[in-house]
Amino acid sequence: MNSKFEQPNIVLDGNIPEPSANPSDNRHFADIIQARFSRRAMLQGSLGVAAVGFLGGTLAACGGDSSSRRRKASLGFEAIPAGRDDAIVVPEGYTARAFLPWGTPILGSMPAYMEDGSNTGADQAEQMGSHHDGIHYFPIDGSSDHGLLVMNHEYVDKKVIHAAGPSARPRPLDEVRKEMNAHGVSVVEIQKGANGEWEMLNNGQNRRITAFTEMEITGPARGSELLVTAFSPNATRTRGTLNNCGSGFTPWGTYLISEENWAGYFHPDASIDPVPRELARYSVSGWQGNFWYDAQEGGIVTSDDNFSRFLTAATGADASEDFRNEPNNFGWLVEFDPFDPNSVPKKRTAMGRFAHEGVVPVPAVVGKPVVFYSGDDSTNEYIYKYVSNANYEEGMTGDDLLDDGTLYVARFNDDGTGEWLALDFDDVDFQADMSESPIKFTSQADVLVNTRSAADMRGATPMDRPEWGAVNPVTNEVYFTLTNNSGRQYADEANPRVLNRTGHIIRWNEDGEPAATTFSWDIFVFGGRDKLHLRGYVPGTGTFLTEENFFASPDGLLYDDSGILWIQTDMSGGQQDGSSADGDFGNNQMLAAIPETGEIKRFLVGPMDCEVTGVVLTPDHKTMFINIQHPGDRSEPGNFTSHWPSGVAGARPRSSTVVITKDDGGVIGL
Ligand code: FEO
Ligand code: CA
Ligand code: CA
Ligand code: CA
Repeated sequence: MNSKFEQPNIVLDGNIPEPSANPSDNRHFADIIQARFSRRAMLQGSLGVAAVGFLGGTLAACGGDSSSRRRKASLGFEAIPAGRDDAIVVPEGYTARAFLPWGTPILGSMPAYMEDGSNTGADQAEQMGSHHDGIHYFPIDGSSDHGLLVMNHEYVDKKVIHAAGPSARPRPLDEVRKEMNAHGVSVVEIQKGANGEWEMLNNGQNRRITAFTEMEITGPARGSELLVTAFSPNATRTRGTLNNCGSGFTPWGTYLISEENWAGYFHPDASIDPVPRELARYSVSGWQGNFWYDAQEGGIVTSDDNFSRFLTAATGADASEDFRNEPNNFGWLVEFDPFDPNSVPKKRTAMGRFAHEGVVPVPAVVGKPVVFYSGDDSTNEYIYKYVSNANYEEGMTGDDLLDDGTLYVARFNDDGTGEWLALDFDDVDFQADMSESPIKFTSQADVLVNTRSAADMRGATPMDRPEWGAVNPVTNEVYFTLTNNSGRQYADEANPRVLNRTGHIIRWNEDGEPAATTFSWDIFVFGGRDKLHLRGYVPGTGTFLTEENFFASPDGLLYDDSGILWIQTDMSGGQQDGSSADGDFGNNQMLAAIPETGEIKRFLVGPMDCEVTGVVLTPDHKTMFINIQHPGDRSEPGNFTSHWPSGVAGARPRSSTVVITKDDGGVIGL
């Protein structure tokens, strides 16, 4: 153990119960960090990955492009304190304004938002959805003042979205319709006005994608018997997208929707025994408690299979006569063209089926494959990488690049190296593993529908709930949040905290090209608070987190091209109010980090009981859009724990985008 490193995990505070941290884990931890240091120095020396010293505190000039001119060695704002205000707080010199909250009319008959919760299911289809999450800005003609803002809507809070909370079962059909229409994606054309404030336009570009929207199934699982339903007996089409968490985008100007906790929306038919692995390995168990399948209209249970499909019953003679396979149509990444309001979204099955937190592209290079990373956010699940078979050329689209490629899953070795294991039925190593495993597959479609089982078979490393990833646009170094994992019973080097309550951020460099099948990894930062038992710690600098930057449960990430890594948190209610053993972190927040120097500062604190998620900058970096999800998520009907964004006493809380600008019109963060 290097004496330079204080024992990071166990620092007892009189008010905090002793954690179950295992001293051997800590020794282990320090050893890893030591190992990582020398490896990293070697890597940078030999490959020139980033022409900067890890501890040097300076950023190298990286050529003459505009992004390098923006790069600075330190953050240009004063850190703000943690807090418990029911408001957005940003540093002095910045302004944050709510924009496009849940229920804002954006198209069609433009139904006004009703504060009493009385908007109908049809209204909701023409309004902003709920629970804003991953977000992207698509410039129009390269503009930083005019573009399409596209965002995911992860789920709904039934206690907030309806006038008086959810009805008991059987649920009124329109209540269910409203919930389904509050999911999905919003596309909104926006422009910066003469006064500098952004406004929505309504020129026919605005769009809602919901749990009803028809989609195409593409890639190797298209036509698979595992995807056959009464809606599409040839398994080429499906309806809707669910639990859309982090998002992504492609070099050819399309948006990628992720499907995360879709499994909780389906109620399995208890008579199907044994439960097929397509359901069992994904915990399809109705845990969202939605009961959409037996909604009633006029006292009669609906016969509309748009609703009944959420019970996965084998009522027909075969799968083409019922919806036993309906859950297999979810868990994918979905691509669509936001510039064409009539484009049919495509579920890209080659990219795997799991609880996709999001998807992050490596900057594309003409003549090379395109590469995307995606985490499976569930306890002890995996991190994946997709590499196209074709090399990227101008004019190519997802049809060329996202239906034909290799999906890999990560193994993090204890010595700081890692391997990408192909989930490819034709791969020699895959076949060799399968010959020795009780887990079997019959085709690539089978592998993809059962991605988790295939990753199990190949020996992937179970991680502490992988959430967002981000790629350094200069070096291609990859960062991934591992938000927390109170279910971790044993430590390994990449997940070194048993009962990891406050999370960490791991990072790696591929050995050469982004498509490489080996990599070297280390840990950028551990969440925690300075005085508490789980201390926040930046191994690369040997420093602990302070009042300026303590955090827990990292989630959203963006690595911008001025060199800032933006980190968003999704801490539990107990972590926010200090009632949990983990600490006292205040409301969820966003921090800015310069990984090369280890500098980290708190940039934003959100309103009460929210999550801060989704972040994107305009190309000029003068506007940042983030999302505030589920403010007041401990509300009861009529007794809301947040009144943000209106701030009016008694008002219903509303998820919302937030527009952040610098008062002097400058670049955000620097
Ligand atoms: Fe939707 Fe894992 O956060
Ligand atoms: Ca998340
Ligand atoms: Ca989360
Ligand atoms: Ca969320």
